[in-house]
Amino acid sequence: TGPLRLGIAGLGTVGAGVIKIIQRRADLLAARTGREIQVVAISARNRDKDRGVRLSGYDWEDDPIALARRDDIDLFVELMGGSDGPAKVATETAIATGKDVVTANKAMLALHGQALATAAEEAGVALRFEAAVAGGIPVVKALTEGLAGNEVQRVMGVMNGTCNYILTRMESAGLPYDEVFEEANALGYLEADPTLDVGGIDAGHKLSLLSSIAFGTQVDFPAVELEGIQRIEFADIEQARDMGYRIKLLGVTQMTGRGLEQRMSPCLVPADSPLGQLEGGTNMVVLEGDAVGQIVMRGAGAGEGPTASAVLSDILDIARGIRVSTFGQPASSLQKPKPAKAAAP
Ligand code: NDP
Ligand code: HSE
Repeated sequence: TGPLRLGIAGLGTVGAGVIKIIQRRADLLAARTGREIQVVAISARNRDKDRGVRLSGYDWEDDPIALARRDDIDLFVELMGGSDGPAKVATETAIATGKDVVTANKAMLALHGQALATAAEEAGVALRFEAAVAGGIPVVKALTEGLAGNEVQRVMGVMNGTCNYILTRMESAGLPYDEVFEEANALGYLEADPTLDVGGIDAGHKLSLLSSIAFGTQVDFPAVELEGIQRIEFADIEQARDMGYRIKLLGVTQMTGRGLEQRMSPCLVPADSPLGQLEGGTNMVVLEGDAVGQIVMRGAGAGEGPTASAVLSDILDIARGIRVSTFGQPASSLQKPKPAKAAAP
């Protein structure tokens, strides 16, 4: 088999991280897939920016849509972000012109995942998104592949690194919000619009994607009951600590007799529990299946290396010829969910 030829749109925290791994680990990746992983062309807004990685030797495209249309790439890697606009048009273009797509864009998938997955299926191409949920934790693969023989009962967890970073650093380091926010920014955790993070919207996007895989339903982000961390004050964090608790932005999704419950909100968790001990940008996802019981996955939920690691896992699946439906089953078979109001915690 020949090389897998990539076009990468977006050279920020994640895009630069992906190129670094491809450059540093070329032999390992080729040994694992039997193919060279070859970057052919790249795109970003600013051609002159130093991105801490060698970019000579790759064709430059100012327009990510032109990149998606090129006939000398097999796989389009979308790492620009944004639910609509160029990311969505470029993804649609790549699919329509017969390319597989890997993306880290949970906002785009939470709002347009059903349409994009259907388009990919009709075009006979793959659309994969491991990096979009919980950064380096391979939770999408755990649900679509590892737990494929289970009826999933519940998925819950802490899925936004920025919020966990802010909540835990303010408490453990006694730092003010602004300082902690800048630290999270320097670590590459923040969305381009950080209100998505602190408003709980980013975590809600992720929860809606996991709900779809877990329960075989169409992504229904508008039905997620959402509350962010903006109203949490230092006094709340201190009061929780004094009672032996910590505040976490916790998501829960489960199928109940009343319908699909999806909730993302600040919750009190015992300080000595695994969830209570999560520090910094760490995420934790708890999966419950009828056959397997409970599985707990914990790891870095954001940042360059962990997110690039997840993007690479999708790229390597495609290089190996592993074909898995975007949400674990054909998009045409996903049911429209009936939303249920969450029970009081
Ligand atoms: P950054 O803001 O660091 O990078 C975005 C990149 O996209 C930049 O290189 C930017 O160009 C480029 N870009 C933006 N708009 C355009 C456009 N119109 N045309 C061409 N290029 C464009 O974002 P991240 O790397 O942090 O995130 C990328 C994606 O990954 C997002 O969907 C995000 O939600 C997701 N993600 C991020 C994680 C993280 O920890 N950072 C974790 C998991 C997912 P330029 O550099 O020239 O401005
Ligand atoms: N902004 C996101 C976070 C990036 O902080 O978790 C990872 O999806």
